[in-house]
Amino acid sequence: AYQRAFAEKRNAAAGRRAWAVAAAPWTGAAVSAAAGRTVALAFFEPSTRTRLSFELAARRLGADVLDLDVRRSSVVKGEEERETLLTLEALGAEVIVVRTARDDLRPDAGRLTRATVVAGGSGMHAHPTQALLDAYTLLEAFGRLDGSGPLRLSGLTVALVGDVRHSRVAASLLRLLPRLGARVVVAGPPTLVRRDDGLVPEAAVVPSVEAAVEMADAVVLLRLQKERLSPQDVAALGGDVDVFLATYLDRYGLDARKARRLRPGAVVLHPGPVWPDVEIARALLDDPRVLVRRQVENGVFVRMAVLADALGLSEDEKTGAAATPG
Ligand code: CP
Repeated sequence: AYQRAFAEKRNAAAGRRAWAVAAAPWTGAAVSAAAGRTVALAFFEPSTRTRLSFELAARRLGADVLDLDVRRSSVVKGEEERETLLTLEALGAEVIVVRTARDDLRPDAGRLTRATVVAGGSGMHAHPTQALLDAYTLLEAFGRLDGSGPLRLSGLTVALVGDVRHSRVAASLLRLLPRLGARVVVAGPPTLVRRDDGLVPEAAVVPSVEAAVEMADAVVLLRLQKERLSPQDVAALGGDVDVFLATYLDRYGLDARKARRLRPGAVVLHPGPVWPDVEIARALLDDPRVLVRRQVENGVFVRMAVLADALGLSEDEKTGAAATPG
């Protein structure tokens, strides 16, 4: 509903810097669904897409936003995470979106505050709203959002390609996609795609990225998480990260050669931030099969829906927010 309402506003504003004009009504007083409510963003790890789209989503619902700038906050003076979250709660935050480098966000944060905590990326463990927006983008790409059937990805094969082991996006997609009926396969550097990590119980590991690309209706490229490589990982990758990176695109990334193996109708996703000419050839970023920008766009609608639920908006309030005239 939020996506449809946005498209209507965009069409109505066609020719007048459409996207900016179309977005404006959501930022004004016309929206009341979450007026007077407060959403806080507490990102203890850097983010562009998740933080900004949660902020936009909250504003489009009419909520006030507290965006904690960790580098200018008392966190740098050593204030504990618990005190930070309780301070946001005391300032009125009913929902706190938290990103942390640690894996134990949910049980920990749930005990720390009475506010509803929404994961904005939790260590290597989970990035649920990214998985939701990826699934939404797939439902859209394969025509499953037209209301004619259930929201399912049945019959589709999705390949997760790259650094599966360190990817919280992959961890969440491995939980979500099979529940929507998709078959999931994974491929990438052997060190970074290991069944014995327990991270790929739902998925078949295929021996090469080429094979994964050939069998997939959708290829989800994953960010190579250089910052999470341990000395043991580096040793297993050949001992020299720079050499590994220099050969990554040819061996494991989506270059023109592998893109020619994509099935007709196949699409390519990447959660971002993209590392051009490592995970995907720079020229392919403009290929219409590559839905990276669409994922970002859809992220706002999906996060509006997540926040609407987290704020406990009624169905009428949710619908009213979508239908607010522009
Ligand atoms: N996909 C994603 O989480 O990107 P950011 O780190 O920029 O939020």
